[in-house]
Amino acid sequence: MISFKELDYKEFELCYEIDSDTICLWTKKQWKFEFNKRGVKVIAILVRKEIIGIYVVQTIIDEAQINFFSIKQKYRRKGYGSYLMRNLIKQCENLSVKRILLEVSDTNSIAEVFYNKFKFLTVGRRKNYYKNGSDAVLKEKIL
Ligand SMILES: CC(C)(COP(=O)(O)OP(=O)(O)OC[C@H]1O[C@@H](n2cnc3c(N)ncnc32)[C@H](O)[C@@H]1OP(=O)(O)O)[C@@H](O)C(=O)NCCC(=O)NCCS
Repeated sequence: MISFKELDYKEFELCYEIDSDTICLWTKKQWKFEFNKRGVKVIAILVRKEIIGIYVVQTIIDEAQINFFSIKQKYRRKGYGSYLMRNLIKQCENLSVKRILLEVSDTNSIAEVFYNKFKFLTVGRRKNYYKNGSDAVLKEKIL
């Protein structure tokens, strides 16, 4: 019932749709750009063939950066985000990644709780990082 699939460049519109329905991080142009970055993988979680969430991770040597992570609104709080995160961590382990990094807005308390559950520790802060003026909290998980 639950499966994972790597998305390719041709599916950038679909990624944009999910993004628009969730955190509105990137424009279509930025999504296209993201697919073309070195070391980037876009992985979707599917429930009965419907894509309900995606992550974007960029791996450079032994470090991975989560650039996007989201579950569609109506599927949240059902454990799918945890499935997706476990898949991400497993992929990183397979690639001998030593640490996973991410940035999250300090106003996004749900994501903060979510990442804390997976033992991401706060290692820094970037002032006024987001368009709305909020700070970015830098988090890291050592594997
Ligand atoms: C963060 C997000 C990915 C979590 O996905 P999810 O499928 O709802 O997560 P799960 O159901 O697997 O929940 C895992 C844990 O996260 C925490 N959590 C998730 N939703 C929560 C909520 N609404 N309130 C408090 N804690 C919450 C809980 O600790 C939960 O564990 P529990 O169910 O045992 O209490 C989802 O809320 C989301 O897509 N948010 C918008 C995008 C975003 O903020 N991404 C991160 C920044 S890029």
